[in-house]
Amino acid sequence: MRKKIIAGNWKMNKTVEEAIELANGVKRELADCTEVDVVLCPPFTAIKSVSDIVSETQIAVGSQNMSSEDEGAYTGEICHSMLKELFVRYVILGHSERREYYKETDEWINKKVIKALEKNLRPILCVGETLEDRESGSTEKVVEVQVREGLKNVAADAYTELVIAYEPVWAIGTGKVATAEQAQEVHAFIRATVKDMVGEEAANAVRIQYGGSMKPGNAPELLAQPDIDGGLIGGAALDAESFAGIVKAGM
Ligand code: G3P
Repeated sequence: MRKKIIAGNWKMNKTVEEAIELANGVKRELADCTEVDVVLCPPFTAIKSVSDIVSETQIAVGSQNMSSEDEGAYTGEICHSMLKELFVRYVILGHSERREYYKETDEWINKKVIKALEKNLRPILCVGETLEDRESGSTEKVVEVQVREGLKNVAADAYTELVIAYEPVWAIGTGKVATAEQAQEVHAFIRATVKDMVGEEAANAVRIQYGGSMKPGNAPELLAQPDIDGGLIGGAALDAESFAGIVKAGM
């Protein structure tokens, strides 16, 4: 049985003061939640404050990106040791916004995945097709390349640590959610791809989240699908009650 994992990706939202308020709200609702893994991914500037707030709870902290380098002259970047000293456990890597706006490639994302695992941080590798890909019938082809390249050279036993997030780009922040059937189909395909890459045990163990306009209303149906092991939540994670509603749907 895979434990569900619900992560809130706050993206470039929330000042420190606002982040404190939101983290306290989530803490009130979910501090003792053990049925589902709960992760908050604030912007870098608010990680310390959020980590302090959730320190004695079941809630974990993640970052929204990480450098593939160890340290040095990389202006504007943040590396693993800086995150670990703030008790970060998860790192979102390869989000479609980073692929699109900052031109992150599969090769570069793979370097980050490898670095994160080497440093005992848990990658949440995001994959997903654009509307154009879907309409031209290339969803599986696109997702397969992102999975195979993003997880290249990752050992089978690391799949219990990492998470894959399937986020159809056309469903992100648009209010257009993939139907439970559409999402399940791609999740099953990703699991089959992992099986082909590293074997059945790893494929059965790896957790695959859905992301894209997930809300308390549509979460129960999505989370009931056999291959959907959680959610990566954007907009609805900016409100403690909505986020908690999604987590509760996964219990
Ligand atoms: O990473 C989460 C994400 O991109 C989904 O965003 O706002 O559609 O829930 P949203």
